[in-house]
Amino acid sequence: MRLQGKVAIVTGGLQGIGKATVELFLQEGASVVVADLPKTGGEWNLAADSEPSKYVYIQTDVTQEESVKRLVAQTVDRFGRLDILFANAGIGESAMIHTMTYADWQRVIDVNLNSVFLSNKYGIEAMLAGGGGSIINNASFLGFVGQQGVIANAAAKGGVINLTRTLGVNYAKQGIRVNSICAGYTLTPVITAKPQEVIDEFVSKHPIGRLAEPIEIAQAVLFLASDDSSFVVGSNLMVDGGYTAQ
Ligand SMILES: NC(=O)c1ccc[n+]([C@@H]2O[C@H](COP(=O)([O-])OP(=O)(O)OC[C@H]3O[C@@H](n4cnc5c(N)ncnc54)[C@H](O)[C@@H]3O)[C@@H](O)[C@H]2O)c1
Repeated sequence: MRLQGKVAIVTGGLQGIGKATVELFLQEGASVVVADLPKTGGEWNLAADSEPSKYVYIQTDVTQEESVKRLVAQTVDRFGRLDILFANAGIGESAMIHTMTYADWQRVIDVNLNSVFLSNKYGIEAMLAGGGGSIINNASFLGFVGQQGVIANAAAKGGVINLTRTLGVNYAKQGIRVNSICAGYTLTPVITAKPQEVIDEFVSKHPIGRLAEPIEIAQAVLFLASDDSSFVVGSNLMVDGGYTAQ
């Protein structure tokens, strides 16, 4: 078990890449705080072998400073420390700048970039008190390349990538490693809901000839969370089926 005794927060952990990561972290022995907005329309269930005493859901809006501060404080109250933060919550968009409103721009920047500032700020504060930790920010291939119809998300993910580098540099000596993953298109609800021709177009951009399963991204997050990546600092790990390599 690679995360035995560790305490982790996963933001946006109720579905998609976040949920796959929550389940994997639990399998690897961590205690996990699942931080997300309340799910409209229903229940959420983790894999049947997830041990209930090892995880808790804390309702969180990652764009609200008080909410993020409370999330970290409640995590430390409940489990005694914070070792791992996966700043994963995010939203997609489909926009062109000449028709996009400033409010829509601000919303995407809030959820996909400003939230990373907040969770990393309070996460690092707790990790400094606990003697170290590992932060993984969920960036994207979209932080490296331009794409039709993606505006604020591309800017936000580019920001996450360089924020990750600079926080990695700033806190390495204090035992806090900050890295990101940059996934290619992944078969989460936000992608599977798209029309088949859009999915086919996405597939055509990946040299591997398919999209990722959420677990394939979670495995990369686990690597960065665990001591297997003990010399990895400020890196942005491409997990994109070759999308940005071509
Ligand atoms: N799916 C992809 O193709 C893909 C590719 C590259 C990067 N990513 C990134 O991976 C991350 C997760 O994506 P996903 O596809 O699993 O998305 P998803 O929509 O399946 O899940 C995102 C989760 O984040 C939560 N969330 C949204 N706003 C929030 C807020 N303000 N506060 C708290 N939680 C909030 C949602 O409720 C949801 O549970 C995002 O940052 C996304 O940009 C996704």
